[in-house]
Amino acid sequence: MPENTTEVKTIAVIGAGQMGEGIAQVAAVSRFSVIVYDVSSDALRRCQESHKKRITKLSEKPPEKGGIPPADVEPVLARIKYVHNLSPVGGADVAIEAVVENFDLKKKIFHELAHTLTGRQILATNTSSIGITSIAASVGAAAERVVGMHFFNPVPVMKLVEVIKGIQTSQETVERTIALAKALGKTPIPANDRAGFISNRVLMPMINEGFYAWMEGVAEPRNIDEIMKLGCNFPMGPLELADFIGLDTCVNIMDVMADGLNDDRYRACPLLKQLVAAGRMGKKTGRGVYEYPKA
Ligand SMILES: NC(=O)c1ccc[n+]([C@@H]2O[C@H](COP(=O)([O-])OP(=O)(O)OC[C@H]3O[C@@H](n4cnc5c(N)ncnc54)[C@H](O)[C@@H]3O)[C@@H](O)[C@H]2O)c1
Repeated sequence: MPENTTEVKTIAVIGAGQMGEGIAQVAAVSRFSVIVYDVSSDALRRCQESHKKRITKLSEKPPEKGGIPPADVEPVLARIKYVHNLSPVGGADVAIEAVVENFDLKKKIFHELAHTLTGRQILATNTSSIGITSIAASVGAAAERVVGMHFFNPVPVMKLVEVIKGIQTSQETVERTIALAKALGKTPIPANDRAGFISNRVLMPMINEGFYAWMEGVAEPRNIDEIMKLGCNFPMGPLELADFIGLDTCVNIMDVMADGLNDDRYRACPLLKQLVAAGRMGKKTGRGVYEYPKA
């Protein structure tokens, strides 16, 4: 792990779901103290159980693959606290928000964070598509501390963090966020605040096109995925990747881009929307494009 040369000692992770869990794990392994906050006690319990399992497993891996010595497992786990209310978050140097992709909810949380963290603390959001400028607009003068810190799934494996500067974000906040991402062992790359940023603006239309190709009968899903894997050297085909991300999340991101970029070419494919309407959200619900029987 890289040396922590930032002034940050404690990171608060807001939301203990898929992404929050991964961010908290990476932060604790990188020697930060971590406070995980969620409104759901079930989510906190699942997150804690999963940390125990995953961090213990890390001791079976070599260091070059992200492994840690067995003697470090307990100290890493002891660095993570799980909390139900926001007041302990007041002791953090940075908050990274990873709650569900809903603008009103994020606005409310940033309003609370700005009142809880009133100093120089970075207020970062892991949103996939919602404008940083719009989220920042809900926190008054603290807007200059609001920044996008877009991690990728699974967080312990994926190297990239897109660092998104809203119109109000200060350059100092961007630079401190880049330093923090490096201290977490990630590769930060800056982008400006346009719907979908870079990653989803380029990726999602490709996934959407995969659904159009399937809907028009150009090929069956397995063949679409195999063609893109073998022909473009992608590790996963677009439809398989959509199942992994969540088909509902794909539709949400396309909707945000269609509205934010004001262009119909970002409209979600009718077949993709239909699968979501049928409850086929992907891997997380056991069925999306493909079926995922429970192990
Ligand atoms: N899943 C991905 O592949 C991915 C990748 C990059 C970014 N993101 C973004 O990360 C964020 C989280 O996504 P996820 O996949 O982890 O979602 P998730 O549904 O797994 O987790 C969301 C968590 O937020 C919690 N929550 C809801 N309301 C809350 C509140 N008021 N206060 C605190 N916690 C609250 C829920 O209990 C849940 O545990 C979203 O903004 C998403 O767009 C997701």
